[in-house]
Amino acid sequence: MVTTRETVTPPQIRQTECFIGGQWVASVSGKVFDTINPATEAVICQVAEGDAADIDVAVAAARQAIDKGPWGTMDARDRGALIYALADLIEADVDELAALEALDNGKPVTEARTIDLPLVIDCLRYYAGWADKIHGKTIPIRGPHFVYTRREPVGVAGQIIPWNFPMLMTAWKWGPALAAGCTVVMKPAEQTPLSCLRMARLAQKAGFPDGVINVVPGYGATAGAAIVRHPGVDKIAFTGEHTTAKLIMREAAETMKRLTFELGGKSPNIVCADANLDAAVEGAHLGLFFNQGQCCCAGSRIFVEAPIYEAFVEKIVARTKGRKLGDPMAISTEQGPQVDRAQFDKIMRYIDLGNQQGARCLTGGQRFGDRGYFIEPTVFTGVTDDMAIATDEIFGPVMTILKFDGVDEIVARANQTCYGLAAAVWTQDIAKAHHIAARVRAGTVWINCYDVLDAAAPFGGFKMSGIGRELGEAALNNYLEDKTVTVSLR
Ligand code: NAI
Ligand code: MG
Repeated sequence: MVTTRETVTPPQIRQTECFIGGQWVASVSGKVFDTINPATEAVICQVAEGDAADIDVAVAAARQAIDKGPWGTMDARDRGALIYALADLIEADVDELAALEALDNGKPVTEARTIDLPLVIDCLRYYAGWADKIHGKTIPIRGPHFVYTRREPVGVAGQIIPWNFPMLMTAWKWGPALAAGCTVVMKPAEQTPLSCLRMARLAQKAGFPDGVINVVPGYGATAGAAIVRHPGVDKIAFTGEHTTAKLIMREAAETMKRLTFELGGKSPNIVCADANLDAAVEGAHLGLFFNQGQCCCAGSRIFVEAPIYEAFVEKIVARTKGRKLGDPMAISTEQGPQVDRAQFDKIMRYIDLGNQQGARCLTGGQRFGDRGYFIEPTVFTGVTDDMAIATDEIFGPVMTILKFDGVDEIVARANQTCYGLAAAVWTQDIAKAHHIAARVRAGTVWINCYDVLDAAAPFGGFKMSGIGRELGEAALNNYLEDKTVTVSLR
């Protein structure tokens, strides 16, 4: 593993307060919390710590904006124009935003610049285009009646996001909500509040009316739970851990909020004996190590068919050893630190468990350096289905390689999990590829590729990986209510 230089300029920190009703304000309590640079463990700055009192103000602003303000009556095409304007401002600011994301999250600045930000901009433009294309139907019913449906915004959307793709998760949530005509109260993850606040500043510059977008940084148990409980919030969109989603589901029952969840995974990446081996190795490498392994759709169970198992392992270990770890602000860095101490500790515990339960660690397995939450990219072979590293979402740079024999066996084993977010299959046999794609219980199946995401294609989970779909036309439905209007023609 190599360390790298040639770093980008550290970004200026401009927004650290809550953004509520078009104003930048301190939290009601006056409290702040530290946000940490995971590469150095140093405090970057302090950020306003919102809680229930701030959520009350934010929800009131969001309600005002949709119920009485200009947003509820704005022409759909003008709503779309504002979303386009936000995308343009982000595009004009990509260097600074990428640096900010790298600083707060620890992801390599080059990845933020070339992957996260283009996806953010594309997502916003995709939904900007939808704003004036959301319409109902006329329906022939019995009798002298005229029936039409209206697709109305669900109202105030409470949006709670994690730290692994702070800007991209913001775009995935804001895009469909704003296109549908909802207003938003968002709580970014406590680990990574800065880029979401910066996006709120750009939304303000783009000219969104006050109260349409509100951002309240803070912790899950206080600010997050307050959004979930608040009777003025109509819908919750949550991305994070399924245990958190269960809490939210119980709490939201009280006010019957609409819920969509995008949760974790333990996605099978199936490499058949007839695969293009080099492509599969590269896909498996990217599918697991991308974003420090902190991806809900990480291909974290790599099943390799027996005849090519040894060859695959040899190549992937070599590829893993060549991975460049180091300062996320260095342009050639491929892997930065994990997001925080808690994630670092959790991953190191799983590495211990892998060793204890008899898997073989062929490379990595240690902390990298003595400062920051860096973990060496780690490859375990000889993994069996019941080991903790094969069943649990590790959310880190820990690859587990399992062996299989034949299609029927692999479909059963791939589905032997409570999750169902994604899967991939590598084979030259097109019939086999589609056969496996049809039988694996997952919201996304990649054939001979991995992590190909696009704003137009729905993304989400079967089973414990979630409810509902993000992206595409599907995500708009999460933010709309259907209203049937019946007119007597007598
Ligand atoms: P988490 O689910 O606790 O946090 C996600 C978001 O939910 C954060 O904004 C947090 O403040 C908020 N939150 C936490 N408790 C809440 C509550 N009671 N009510 C409302 N909001 C609440 O996830 P965490 O602790 O950051 O990560 C733990 C594990 O979850 C990771 O190791 C990983 O396995 C998984 N995870 C999965 C993600 C995904 O994209 N599917 C993203 C982040 C984490
Ligand atoms: Mg948590």
